[in-house]
Amino acid sequence: MKLVKYIIMATTILSAVYAEAQTKKVLVAYYSWSGNTRVLAQEIQKQTGADIFEIVPAKAYSTDFQECVKVAREEIDNIKAGSEPPALKGEMPDLSKYSVIFIGSPNWCSTIAPPVNTFLKSEALAGKTVVPFCTHGTGGRATLFTDMKALAPKATFLEGYSIAGKDVKGSAEAVSKWLKEIKLLK
Ligand SMILES: Cc1cc2nc3c(=O)[nH]c(=O)nc-3n(C[C@H](O)[C@H](O)[C@H](O)COP(=O)(O)O)c2cc1C
Repeated sequence: MKLVKYIIMATTILSAVYAEAQTKKVLVAYYSWSGNTRVLAQEIQKQTGADIFEIVPAKAYSTDFQECVKVAREEIDNIKAGSEPPALKGEMPDLSKYSVIFIGSPNWCSTIAPPVNTFLKSEALAGKTVVPFCTHGTGGRATLFTDMKALAPKATFLEGYSIAGKDVKGSAEAVSKWLKEIKLLK
């Protein structure tokens, strides 16, 4: 009789765990100025079947590279000195329905782009699994992933992925290898 009870209990627990795994919703949130991080975000979305959300600043950065770098550097310095990051455009996604959230940023002055800073600060990421990714020039991932972690200390971070912006278009295989390594793709 006891054995039957244990079997019923074990089956109930297993079905609850299975149901949780089935409903594990995934979001890919990203900011992109010139398109590279968008291409990578779309690749991750395609392979994982996730929802996708583009982080857009309320005030667009100049399309002129030099001007954009100037403003970005100023904003990054101000944020480091304690200023609020820039406001975002539109509604934030309801993060309560997601358990895994990919967050992508280009490398801007060796750190995350300010709009990503705003997203990380304004959203309830406590208890979520966060997977960082980035695209970059010659500077690599620099401190991007540790900067993201510092802004969401109550989230669990998985191993991130970074790639040079010029290589994103041929990244499908490398992305799939990474997703398998972190067990988000079979
Ligand atoms: C404002 C600005 C600052 C940048 N700073 C860096 C940097 O410090 N190191 C680096 O490797 N690349 C830097 N880059 C290059 C971008 O990280 C790279 O081109 C990236 O792939 C762009 O992504 P996106 O197309 O999604 O905007 C910078 C680009 C911009 C626009």
